[in-house]
Order: sequence, then C-alpha cells, then structure tokens
Amino acid sequence: MGQIMERVEGFDSRVVDCLAASYSHSEWELLDAMARWAETAELPDDEALASLIEEAGTMALNEMPLGADILGAHSNASNKRWRSMNGEFFTPGNVCDAIGEVSASHLLALHQESPDARLLVVEPAAGSGALLLGLIRAIMALPERDSLLRALDIVAADISQTNMMRLSVNLNLLQRRLGFELAITTLCGDAFEVLQPYQGQAALVIGNPPFIKLPAEGMLAANWSLPCLYRRPLEFAQSQGLLRESAGNPDTTHPVVKGSVKAAVAFVEMAVALLKPKGMIQMVVDDGILANAKERPFREVLLNGYCSLTNVIALPGETFAHSGTKVLCSILGLRGRAYPPSGSVLMAVTDTIGWDSRLRPTRDQLNQDVLPEWMDYLAGDVGSCSVKSAA
Ligand SMILES: C[S@@+](CC[C@H](N)C(=O)[O-])C[C@H]1O[C@@H](n2cnc3c(N)ncnc32)[C@H](O)[C@@H]1O
Repeated sequence: MGQIMERVEGFDSRVVDCLAASYSHSEWELLDAMARWAETAELPDDEALASLIEEAGTMALNEMPLGADILGAHSNASNKRWRSMNGEFFTPGNVCDAIGEVSASHLLALHQESPDARLLVVEPAAGSGALLLGLIRAIMALPERDSLLRALDIVAADISQTNMMRLSVNLNLLQRRLGFELAITTLCGDAFEVLQPYQGQAALVIGNPPFIKLPAEGMLAANWSLPCLYRRPLEFAQSQGLLRESAGNPDTTHPVVKGSVKAAVAFVEMAVALLKPKGMIQMVVDDGILANAKERPFREVLLNGYCSLTNVIALPGETFAHSGTKVLCSILGLRGRAYPPSGSVLMAVTDTIGWDSRLRPTRDQLNQDVLPEWMDYLAGDVGSCSVKSAA
C-alpha cells in the first residue's frame, strides 16, 4: 500500500483515494472516497483519470485485488443528472461477488459436462464491468480456473461510450494481472441492437439493467420477439410458442404493441431470449417489476414456462445508497428451458449490506449465509415445492 501511495504522490488526491479503495477492496473505503468526490465541484476528467489509473495500476498491479472496479467509484461520483437519464446505478462489489460465485459454479457445472464446449457469457448493460469482474474473481478461486476461463466467450454491451472506456480500463488491468487475454467482445450501443445475433446462445447472462423506460418500437425494429412489448404479453408469448403449456384460447390475430416498456422488464426478457436451454440468468432488478400490478402480465409470462424462475433475493434498501437511490432491488434468478418448470423458488431476504442509508459502515456485512443456500439450491433438485427465507 505504501508503495502505491509513494508512486502516485503528486497525482490528484482523488486518484489516490481511488487506488486506496481499490487496493483494500473494502466497500467502506470505496464509499468513503466516493462521498468525498461527490462533495468536490470539479471531478477529474474521465480520460485523464483512466490514464493515471492505468499508469499507477501497472506499477501496483500485483498488490491490487484482482478485478477491482477501479472506475466504478469515479462513475458513481460523476454527473448525477446524466446517470439518472441513463439509469446508471453501479452494483456494489459485495453484491457482484455473490452473483459471481453463484454464476461461476453454474459455468463450472456446464464446463465439466462438456469440457470442449465454448460458454458464452453476456452482460447486456455492463457499465464499468463490476459484475463481470465479480464473476472472474469468483472463477479465479476455483481449482479449474484456467480451463474454465479459457472456455469463456464474454460479450459486454453498454450504450455509453464513457462506460465502455471505464470497462476497457478495468478489463485491461485484469488481463494484465491474469497474464493472458480473455475472449472478450465489447459492444458500444443499444443492447437491443447489438446483442441480437447472440440469441439462444448464452450459458450465462448477468446484469443490472438501467432504471428507465424504453420505447418498444426500437426493440421490435431490431427483431426481438419479446412478450413485454405487447399489451397482452401472455397471449403473444403463446402465439409464438414461447410458453410450455397452453394458457387458454386467446385471440392472437392482432397483437397490440405498447408505446414504452420498463427497461428492467425488457432486459429480463431479452436475457431469456439470449439463453441457451441450459443457460442461467442472475439479474439485479427493482422490486417494482416483481410486485406491481402493472407488471403482473410480465410475471405471468415468466411463470408460465417461458423459462424457470429459481430465486428472488431481496437486497436491503441502502444497497444503492452511494448512487443516490433508495430503490428496493432483488437478485432475480432464471434458468433456460432445459430445466424443469419451477416447482419451487428460493425466496431470501438479506437485511445487511455493510453500510447504512447515510453510508456509514455497519458492523454486519452482506449476509453471507444466503450464499451457500443459494448455491445448494441451484445445484440441487428444484422439483420439490418449498419457499425459504434466509434473513
Ligand atoms: C444500473 S447500471 C449497471 C451497470 C453495471 N452492470 C453494474 O452492475 O454496475 C445500467 C447500465 O445500463 C447502461 N444502459 C442504459 N441503456 C442501455 C441500453 N439500451 N443498452 C445497453 N446499455 C444501456 C447504462 O449506460 C449503465 O451503464
């Protein structure tokens, strides 16, 4: 740590904060650095920050935690108006680690089943890459890490050029640290345009979709058959053969398209369309889409066999406090059509995250007891009906 501090002396003190935070990988230090940035009127320019961090990062590479989201903190402190227009709320590292561990064990199971098969991982709204970095950190902890990492094809999309720049800096540092290049394709653009060619191929989709609304037209123009784009999604899904069982006798002659769609709903359905039959989705979504009456048709489509619902893990209200939002979110888990229809769903509540709503550190971290239950649950037979709560 001392070595980093000496080498970066003379750099903007906020860069030092950033490195200190990424070095310690402590959520609290990261949040503290962000809070101090947010109080400063002028933030360092993204490009300048990136090059300083790259330079400092190269020197300190072996001392830094693997796959630290160095630019996530900067992003959280940047222009709030832009972030809210673009629905940018970056996922804290401890949540990324939990999703990473569950996802790594899913990928390992597929890899052991077919060691020569390529495994496509898609992050449709990658931001600075926090969730992908969490996944790679988790894979690095496995004995099979080398062969598993080499089997991956990773596709990361984001509509923001700035985020793409943050993502490449983070990925460059990670690859230098790993000592080999991962097969990563980065796509700057609307996920609904650029991910269209990957339909039906993903072994894993992870993400935290933007908290905004999107026009339905663009998605239709890009040829996505997503039920959520229609006023009667269940009927549309059935007419397209997307459901496992008949949902009645609906009139499907003139499906009526909606004007706009909640991005989280559209991204979840896009993720289902991207999945191969043995694929898995773990996405952070706002609880509104899981509970509001308006989104009921969306939930009906999911529950009627479009895919298998596996888990809903509620996160505490202060999870995204550093991004300035108190929106309640959960980790939604779904699996592809090769898995039996959900006879049961893991419902869990995490009640601590590591900080309070005013970003003060708390003694308790993200509930770790949820993780083993979650992993056992996904690994085990989901045929029996049970609803659990791990508080
Ligand atoms: C809630 S943030 C999540 C970022 C990152 N996945 C994470 O977990 O930290 C949502 C991201 O979606 C991106 N975004 C917004 N609209 C998009 C679109 N139509 N296609 C792709 N990315 C989009 C934003 O730029 C932002 O980076």
